[in-house]
Amino acid sequence: MNEVEIRKELEQDRNSVNSLNELNDLKVKYLGKKGLITELNSEIKNVPNEEKKEFGMMVNSLRNDFNSFYEEKKKVLEEEILNEKLKSEAIDITLPSTKVISGAPNMLEELVEQVEEVFMSMGYDVVDGPEIELDKYNFEMLNIPKGHPARDAQDTFYIEGEEVLLRSQTSPVQVRTMLEGKGEKPVRIICPGKTYRRDDDDATHSHQFMQIEGLLVDKDISLSDLKGTLDVLFKKLFGEDTETRFHPSYYQFTEPSVEVDITCHKCKGQGCNICKNTGWITVVGAGVVHPNVLRMSGYDPEVWSGFAFGFGADRLTMLKYDINDCRAIYNTDLREAKAFDRKEAE
Ligand code: DAH
Repeated sequence: MNEVEIRKELEQDRNSVNSLNELNDLKVKYLGKKGLITELNSEIKNVPNEEKKEFGMMVNSLRNDFNSFYEEKKKVLEEEILNEKLKSEAIDITLPSTKVISGAPNMLEELVEQVEEVFMSMGYDVVDGPEIELDKYNFEMLNIPKGHPARDAQDTFYIEGEEVLLRSQTSPVQVRTMLEGKGEKPVRIICPGKTYRRDDDDATHSHQFMQIEGLLVDKDISLSDLKGTLDVLFKKLFGEDTETRFHPSYYQFTEPSVEVDITCHKCKGQGCNICKNTGWITVVGAGVVHPNVLRMSGYDPEVWSGFAFGFGADRLTMLKYDINDCRAIYNTDLREAKAFDRKEAE
């Protein structure tokens, strides 16, 4: 093909290119090893010497024209591809978004954390104990020997024979901690943890619940230390105007034993359905650690004294957030849990 024919051919080809692939095919057709321009260039050997220069310039201009067409077309095609892509991947920001439901810590967990903070600020350690426990720690070393009627009140899940059980209270952690202290070190702990009893689940009973145990063993400890300590706790949990009072009670592992009442935070002591019109609510079992308990765990009752207490964290949570069914605390159905949204409860 001569120059004129090649230009004519290119003129036709340039309008029929629609893709990068087609454009590359054209490059091969014109500038490849056997391309039209390449072949024309090889004709130079047949051109008389005096015309070689002009011929060379003509082929060059042909090549340049093709290259500039090629570059331009390439740019246009690439832009088209990009636009196509942007269009297909576009996000329609006018569409309404899905509603984000914000979470909140579980009420029980939050209450336990508050209790932990109060006690840590008073120098207590937060400790753990096993939920699968030995009868020895859950009862015997708390001064509740086998066959003692005090065991009946805690209808216990036994796992293996008479020795291995699901702890019915967090009090065994007292024993475990004292054993570690070897009768030499003062003890200052609280232990929040799950406990189990053979109860039928209903609005106020659960086979699994959360207790918080406390134990302080040191020298010259008395009931008034306990009163001061629990005062601080309940003012923090239920407000500065909350008051505490003791009334006598009975536990095998404390002597004397007390139950602790707080003023009803709902009616502020005026009387309402929550406090059964008394203005007070019993929330804690406590007392001075029984000398037998100290002795069995290696602490000499002539030297050491202490107080212990235990309370139901679920019950406190129910009181604090005005919940009348304890199952609601463990409910994971958001639609129902929402009914106890703290913003509404407070
Ligand atoms: N463990 C008792 C219970 O489950 C609660 C309790 C009472 C714990 C008095 C104590 C205590 O440490 O001193 O009913």
